[in-house]
Amino acid sequence: MVIHTQKETLVKALSFRNKNEKIGFVPTMGALHKGHISLVAKALEENTLVVVSIFVNPTQFNNSADLEKYPRTPEDDISLLKELNNDIIIYLPEISDLYEGSVLAKSYNYGGLENEMEGKHRSGHFDGVGTILDKFFRIVNPDTAYFGEKDFQQLQIVKKLTAIEKLPVKIIGCPILREPNGLAMSSRNKRLSPKQFDEATLIYKTLEEVQAKFRTTSIADLNALVAERFLQNPHLELEYFEIANEKTLKTAKRKNKSSKYRAFIAAFAGNIRLIDNMPLN
Ligand code: PAF
Repeated sequence: MVIHTQKETLVKALSFRNKNEKIGFVPTMGALHKGHISLVAKALEENTLVVVSIFVNPTQFNNSADLEKYPRTPEDDISLLKELNNDIIIYLPEISDLYEGSVLAKSYNYGGLENEMEGKHRSGHFDGVGTILDKFFRIVNPDTAYFGEKDFQQLQIVKKLTAIEKLPVKIIGCPILREPNGLAMSSRNKRLSPKQFDEATLIYKTLEEVQAKFRTTSIADLNALVAERFLQNPHLELEYFEIANEKTLKTAKRKNKSSKYRAFIAAFAGNIRLIDNMPLN
């Protein structure tokens, strides 16, 4: 069933809530791929009603060209979801239904998580993500919401958002799905040429190398190694590489045995921005 307004969604969700059903929610920006489908499949396993939103949220884009070029394939998305399960509620809102009057983000304090990595490079991005998810969680009223670990910083921020806004939603992180060449699945991959798609495997290969060498190599040496790998490849431009503490997302300068670390990369293939990450210990 496809629903276009928050009112209809709210009514539907409330009717299920009253029947004591479990509502699972998968927010997406569409251009669905197997990574999204794995989230929806998990939601279907764990809930009696699943809502999938498809909405390219303008307030989380700090670059208007990126927003304009973001792939939009609503018909394909709807048939993919219907094929998977005909009972899924597909929520496809219009901008004006969610943002009355001005299309503006609220400002959130996520305890510093927003100032690291993506936050440094995409100003206001997490305010936009928080604004739309805050709205969606109140409209859909889910018990559980599912997010991919490809956007690991987003996942941590959403957990923080539900805590600060006191939203009774359990947030589940799901593993990254990869193409056969290792590239993390992403809607943005649809914009890559076949050549860029092949070259972008460097991101995965570099993360794998960092993971393999993490135990025996200093963080400074790993930073230098990654810079070198990208310098050797003229087709990909490294925006950042960070080894960060998984909880605080703060850049790690030195390893501490009791902490968990993850490596994060953002890189450009032409004007297409790709991100990926991998656990290290
Ligand atoms: O990860 C995404 O696709 C978006 O950031 C989300 C969570 C759907 C919010 O617009």
